[in-house]
Amino acid sequence: MDDQYDLLHHGDREVGDGLVDLAVNVRVPAPPDWLRHELAACLGELAAYPDVRAATEAIAARHGREPADVLPTAGAAEAFTLLAGAFGGGGAVVVHPQFTEPEAALRAAGRPVRRAVLRAADDFVLDPAAVPADAELVFVGNPTNPTSVLHPAATLRRLCRPGRLVVVDEAFLDAVPGEPESLAGQRLPGVVVVRSLTKTWGIAGLRAGYVLAEPAVVERLRALQPPWSVSTPAAVAMVACSRPVALAEAEALAGSAERDREVLVAGLRALGVDVAGTPRAPFVLVRIPGADRVRLALREVGYAVRRGDTFPGLGPDWLRIAVRAELDGFLDALGTVLARCA
Ligand SMILES: Cc1ncc(COP(=O)(O)O)c(C=O)c1O
Repeated sequence: MDDQYDLLHHGDREVGDGLVDLAVNVRVPAPPDWLRHELAACLGELAAYPDVRAATEAIAARHGREPADVLPTAGAAEAFTLLAGAFGGGGAVVVHPQFTEPEAALRAAGRPVRRAVLRAADDFVLDPAAVPADAELVFVGNPTNPTSVLHPAATLRRLCRPGRLVVVDEAFLDAVPGEPESLAGQRLPGVVVVRSLTKTWGIAGLRAGYVLAEPAVVERLRALQPPWSVSTPAAVAMVACSRPVALAEAEALAGSAERDREVLVAGLRALGVDVAGTPRAPFVLVRIPGADRVRLALREVGYAVRRGDTFPGLGPDWLRIAVRAELDGFLDALGTVLARCA
């Protein structure tokens, strides 16, 4: 890597040792029972190669799209790799700070990458003018990890222009009640939406995500996708998690995450901690001078939070904290640590 950011660092490297995990953004500690049962029930079918047709149709129906608009993938991460390989040749721009895998995928594919870095002083709000006019492939997160900012759909649409693909990573949009500002439900020229089932359903180990795009884009990506890369259990999860009853459960989870986030943000502000932007996702980004010392001290008292300095555009004063229920103990611990580190 040619700069100081470790793009391959993820929150899972910061957990373990019995710490309370506020570093990883997977929202539940295990998949719900109904999903585990469906996964267990498909094990007898593993002798056959996977068939993603039912998953493709279920995802299309869930978003009001045509099956031709859908490509199931082995997580959102595979989608980034396919996009980098298929479309990264022209001039890719990654809007940072954001999840680092899209840039890592572009670099791994040997693609030239430029960064459009949003500023803390602007509350990490997207300004379409920050993206160079000649960018042919643009990656932006909505809501964005780690800033928690939700960009208006109208602003994202202003990024579109002939000859450009705008990739909107909506891996966390099902964690925002009502999925506002989503571009998933419409076939828009030049817009690619990436989704993940990892976070809401606690299935990071399963690898389940998908792309929604115009059929010609889907076909280019499919041509690069390794055969059978979406396993039978992942395809089963895609069908199960697209059902109205699952969507209602996701909506309820999103509502409780929103309430928990409000408690967390109020508690952080009461401690004098600077919370970035207007958080809308189930994590918050905070700026604390000397955050690295605070992070290490929190580990000593049992809490893992995500370092911010591996995200382009951030530095050693930033931390990301996952929203969980009942964070009173964490807020108490943080108060003690802040007093000690002051
Ligand atoms: C914003 C964002 N997009 C995508 C992913 C990857 O999702 P998946 O597990 O579906 O590959 C992550 C994982 O942390 C993420 O934070």
